[in-house]
Amino acid sequence: MEGGSSAALTRRGLLVGIGAVGGAGAMYAAMGALGLAPAGQDKQFAAPRPGDFALRGKAAAKVVILGAGVAGLTAAYELGKAGYDCTLLEAREKAGGRNLTLRGGDRLTELTGPAQEVTFGEGVYFNAGPGRIAPWMVTLDYCRELGIPIETFVNNNASAYVHTNGQTRRARTARADMYGYVAELLAKATNLGALDKAITRDDQERLLEFLRRFGDLGPKLEYEGSPRRGFVKYPAINRGTPLDAPGTLRQVLAAGTGRAITNDFGYDQATPMFQPVGGMDMIVTKLTEAVGQDRIITGAKVTKITALDDGVEVVYDGGTIKADYCVATLPPHILAKIPHNLGAEVTAALKTPVPVAAGKIGLEYGRRWWELEDRIYGGVTETDLDITHIWYPSHDYHSDRGVIVGYYNTERHAELYGALTPEDRRRRALTQGKKIHGEKYRQNLLSSVSIAWERQPHIQGGWVRWPAFDSSFTLLQRPAGRVYFAGDWLTHLIAWQAGAMESARGAVTQLHQRVLQSP
Ligand code: ALA
Repeated sequence: MEGGSSAALTRRGLLVGIGAVGGAGAMYAAMGALGLAPAGQDKQFAAPRPGDFALRGKAAAKVVILGAGVAGLTAAYELGKAGYDCTLLEAREKAGGRNLTLRGGDRLTELTGPAQEVTFGEGVYFNAGPGRIAPWMVTLDYCRELGIPIETFVNNNASAYVHTNGQTRRARTARADMYGYVAELLAKATNLGALDKAITRDDQERLLEFLRRFGDLGPKLEYEGSPRRGFVKYPAINRGTPLDAPGTLRQVLAAGTGRAITNDFGYDQATPMFQPVGGMDMIVTKLTEAVGQDRIITGAKVTKITALDDGVEVVYDGGTIKADYCVATLPPHILAKIPHNLGAEVTAALKTPVPVAAGKIGLEYGRRWWELEDRIYGGVTETDLDITHIWYPSHDYHSDRGVIVGYYNTERHAELYGALTPEDRRRRALTQGKKIHGEKYRQNLLSSVSIAWERQPHIQGGWVRWPAFDSSFTLLQRPAGRVYFAGDWLTHLIAWQAGAMESARGAVTQLHQRVLQSP
């Protein structure tokens, strides 16, 4: 017989049959039972389907999901496709977790300090949590599936500024100078024979040819400035007015633009990036609609988790719920504090990741001066100030109002701003932004709202950092009895919604296979 043993053919035939009748979920479950399912998370996700139960005489189970953030909602959405009876317990007033978009009429409270009333105008919004999505992320698949229109998020804008060591220049100028001088240095080193032992003469010629283009070098392979730097007045009928000549190599190095001009080099920050039209919380809105608002209990802080022989009991402010399984998606440092009987190892593992502070301020202006005067349409100004970044809106260009993200910082800078009153945060952000944009940064300001994620009730962190992806990390990727864990914090995509979604899919797959295989 060609193509393998008769046993393999029999198994293949069986799987094809199961796949045809029960769908991919049933086929995976059967493959798991036969020991054929690929290991790890990298296999394609197959959403549970009602048909998966047909061959096995099983029924969808009851699942209690702790947290209605992106991980919890995704878990409920995927389990719901096969008819699982899911209930989500959410301690906050509304679903979404860190996926938070603020609009006029919203009220933002923190653990301490005054509440902030958001007074943005009609149609104006501020993504206080996640704000950008890379094209390879599963987040975009959910946008497609849920019918959420997306638009480009301008993550790299040559017209935005770089502000380092007290100097402000356009990103295009900073890049042209740095690339120019780096190219010149490498070309010189090549011509002095520094690479003779490393590469052949032919390859040196090829390298020089590239460096000429990379740095826009002159005939003597020297960097003498370049139109890439931009102009005082751009060419039109005449040649335009060039900028002053570039500084010397020493001056350009002293400007210290390193991180600021490489920020978008990473695989997760490379252009193009995307955002949902109308606000990041479109993802929450659509997931909630699909799951069913009535399945989400808000104001329901979890106070106790008890593993039972045949299920899980969860006590929360307002009641007790018993389910066959639990998916716990709360931040690990919050989960660690909830009394449970899952064992000391679980508590220790949950305490391992360290919460990271992160903050943002939304500054609403009555005039889009960054478009009108600076000709900046979306993108990010990188700084070495404590505000770190300024984001310009990538949507509603040319409208009357707009929100700039006046700081987006983490760790000690976020803690510094977080400790201030909202008014002082704004004052400080304006003082810093003025160093880049001048007096207009303070004018035309209509309102502002700021968030310190480490001070957000029931969240208490922008995200977490694992000191090492060690046995604690792997322990929590497996269920503790009938309790599964999920969240961006359990992935290598921390601080991305895609992490929450991938992790939820992982928990759903494990849970569903278990239900299908249970005796
Ligand atoms: N995912 C976060 C960001 O894009 C860290 O800034």
